[in-house]
Parts: sequence; structure tokens; C-alpha cells
Amino acid sequence: SKKIVLTEDSTLPAASKIYKLADFRTKRVRVSGWVHRLRQQKELTFIVLRDGTGYLQCILSGILSQTYDALVLATEASVEIFGVIQEVPEGKTAPGGHELVADHWRVLGAAPGGDDAYTNKLNAESEGPVVADNRHLVIRGEIASAVLQVRAGILRSFRKVFDKYTITEVTPPCMVQTQVEGGATLFQFDYYGQVAYLTQSSQLYLETCLPSLGDVYCIQESFRAENSHTRRHLSEYTHLEAELAFITFDDLMTHIEAVICEAVDDLLLDPRMSAFLYQLNPKFKKPSRPFMRLSYKDAIKYLNEHGIKRKDDETEQLVDHVVGDDIAEAAERQMTDQLGVPIFLYGFPKEIKAFYMKKIVGDEGFTESCDLLMPNVGEIVGGSMRIADMQELLEGYKREGIDPAPYYWFTDQRKYGTCEHGGYGLGVERLLAWLTDRFTVRECSLYPRWPGRATP
Ligand code: 4AD
Repeated sequence: SKKIVLTEDSTLPAASKIYKLADFRTKRVRVSGWVHRLRQQKELTFIVLRDGTGYLQCILSGILSQTYDALVLATEASVEIFGVIQEVPEGKTAPGGHELVADHWRVLGAAPGGDDAYTNKLNAESEGPVVADNRHLVIRGEIASAVLQVRAGILRSFRKVFDKYTITEVTPPCMVQTQVEGGATLFQFDYYGQVAYLTQSSQLYLETCLPSLGDVYCIQESFRAENSHTRRHLSEYTHLEAELAFITFDDLMTHIEAVICEAVDDLLLDPRMSAFLYQLNPKFKKPSRPFMRLSYKDAIKYLNEHGIKRKDDETEQLVDHVVGDDIAEAAERQMTDQLGVPIFLYGFPKEIKAFYMKKIVGDEGFTESCDLLMPNVGEIVGGSMRIADMQELLEGYKREGIDPAPYYWFTDQRKYGTCEHGGYGLGVERLLAWLTDRFTVRECSLYPRWPGRATP
């Protein structure tokens, strides 16, 4: 008997990612991905293939669409398809302007049809808990994956901008034994018999880096045990924080504005990113600079002049705002949406702000603090100048009832060569909700956590 030796066809084309296929027009290629959409006619199967880099229309015709595998093919199966990349015929459209006319294909991993089919598990009518339980499948969708692409893109752009300004990235710890933003929202856990917390903010650690590395930033998860089921609260969120030495309060706001605008500019320079962004938010307009600056006191005036009330805690009646009030989320949102532009709200009363904030010279009841408010979302950034003087910081601990002992390392910054400095934290999911016009920050996190939800 004759021995048959099978060797791989040396003309086998190299595998290509979908976004690179324009370089392969009229050539034979091999593409792997998931069946995103499927339409089967008599002797023709249309597949929209997805590989995470893009979408590709593929045509299986004749015998290729009549095999057993073709007949039981279902969306979300993974497949490998060989064929020639051709420009779509005139008058037709397809992603990228071309399609793959298959001459060979195979299933790599089948997906179920029937009750278990992807399209039966999730569709436009799916309710909240179903969507949340199936987040791992939701992220395969066009909208969810586009948000995640923009998320990756904007983080990349932020890193580029920080690099341009010689601001160095650091990685502070997530397990800590000090609070930053108040005890009420701390997640506590047992740390080898000691009490420890999940970090609320890396700010204090960033401050310690100034004399070591100069201006620094981090992109780190922060945790807040906030029992609030709102459109903009997560229990775990991605916190982009920066700290800058030898600056003024005015410098701080100008810097925040520059970093955000330059990161958005950079994002839009990337054609893939700009396509994702306008797919999600067709009306997106870059904010114009400089951003509006509104003092806290003027905001209180604005609220009262525009009939935006607050609910009195005791009487439950709607009442006017007075200086000293913490402006509630609803009122803030109403004002921001009416003004319709990014707003720096600055100069909050010290009583409603954190222990570390620098007071306004000559108006000591108020602080050099700012929130950046965006239409549709509200606060996306919180920042401030920090107390540089040691004695004043010790008073800050006292006012907030904080034991200074565990903060010795933070206090030491004022002992060994203090400096005027300030910084800010930006909620990445909130920024994305604004950028991509999402209803809630939950859509802007890979696997969002909120009260009662820590799966998948
Ligand atoms: O205003 P916050 O609490 O400020 C700080 O933590 C400062 N220590 C940051 C700093 O100066 N380095 O939080 C900053 C930002 C908010 O503006 C908001 O965008 C986001 O973090 N944020 C949340 N995002 C989602 N879910 C939550 N529960 C959030 N809490 C705050």
C-alpha cells in the first residue's frame, strides 16, 4: 500500500485580524472569530464575523452553506473562514466596505441553538437582573463592547497626556489602614487580625510621591460602601488620580481641564476610537475651553433663582438652599443640565469637605476645592489644594474626629519639606457615561459592582 503524506498547503494565507483586512483586498485570507449575526438562505449563508477588532461580512455559498455544520450553525459559535477579501458590489454596504467570499470554513467551537441560544438568553427586552447576571454575554454585544473599546482608548490617551506633561504613573496599594473620604463609605476587612480597608482614594499615597518622583498619577480601583442605587454610584470604580507640586488653585483647574480636553482630542485622532464614540454618542461635541467656573456661593444663588429646591431632612418639605448645604445629586444634576456645559463648581464650605483641604485665604470657612460637573452625569472630578502646613493639618484631623496616629506618614510630608500642592480624582466610569452618553455608570465598567451585586 502506498503511504500518503499530508502536508499543510504552503499557500495557506496568514491569519489576519479583521481591522487589518483592508490591506488584503483581492487576496486570500484566513480569519477567525465569532458568529455575530447569521442569515441563512437556500444556498447562501451570510455571517457577520466578530473578532474584537471589528466586524466582517462573510459569504458561504453553494455546498459550503449546506454542510451539517452550516445547517446547525448558531450565533456566537467560533469559526475559521478562508477566502478572498472583495470589495462589496456597488450599492451594497458592509463593515470596512469589503466582504470575505469563503472557499472553506470550519467550526472551532459550536454554540447552542434553541432555548439556550444567545439570542434567546439576551435581547432588547431583557430586564435588569438578567442583563446583570449575563454581563459576560452582554459584553459580546455591539454597544457594550464599543463602550469598553472607548474605555481602553481614553485610558491610553490619558496615559499619553500625562507622559507629555512628565507626570509619572505609580501603583499605590488597595489595602490600607487609613481613610480619605470619610468613614461612612469604607469597606472594612480583617487583615491578619487587624482592621484594614479597601482604598477609597490613592490621594494620600500620591502626595507622598511628590518629593520622590515629582508630579504623579495613578489609575487604580477605588471602593465605596455607598448604599446608593443611583445612576452614578458603583461600589468599585476606576479612579484616575493625579497630584501636582508647587501649583496654585487656578493652575489645578486649568490642568484638569487641559488633561481632559487633550485626552479627548487624542482619542478622536484614532479613527477606530472616533468611530466607536460617534456610534455610541452621535451628537458628541468636544467641550469648549475654558470651562465655566462657578463658585459654590454663586451656585447656591443660582439654585434659588431657578427654583431648584432641596428636601429638608426633618420636615420633608421642599425648601430653598442656604450657604453651608451640601448640594444634593438631584439639584446638582438639574443645574448642570440647565447650563448644558462642563462646570467647575469651586470653593465648598470646609464642613462638607474632607480634612485635608486647604482653606481659602481670607475666607477661611471655605476651601480651595472643586468638582467638575458634566451635563447628563454631574460630578466626574473632585479635587482640591491640600493643607501644606502641619499644624493646620493636625487641626483638620481633630475637626473630623480622626486619630492622627495612623497618618504619621502623611503628616510627615508637612514635616520634611512641605510644599503647596493639589490634586484630583476622576471617576473613569462617570467620564465614560458623559463621553459615550450612557444612562448609568454600570454600563461603563467591565463587571460593575453595586450594593448586592458582586458577580459575575
Ligand atoms: O470626590 P471624591 O470622593 O474625591 C476623592 O476621592 C479625592 N481624594 C480624589 C483626589 O483628590 N485624589 O471622588 C473623586 C471622583 C468623583 O468625582 C467621582 O467621579 C468618582 O471619584 N466617584 C465615584 N464613581 C463611581 N462610584 C462611586 N461610588 C464614586 N465615588 C466617587
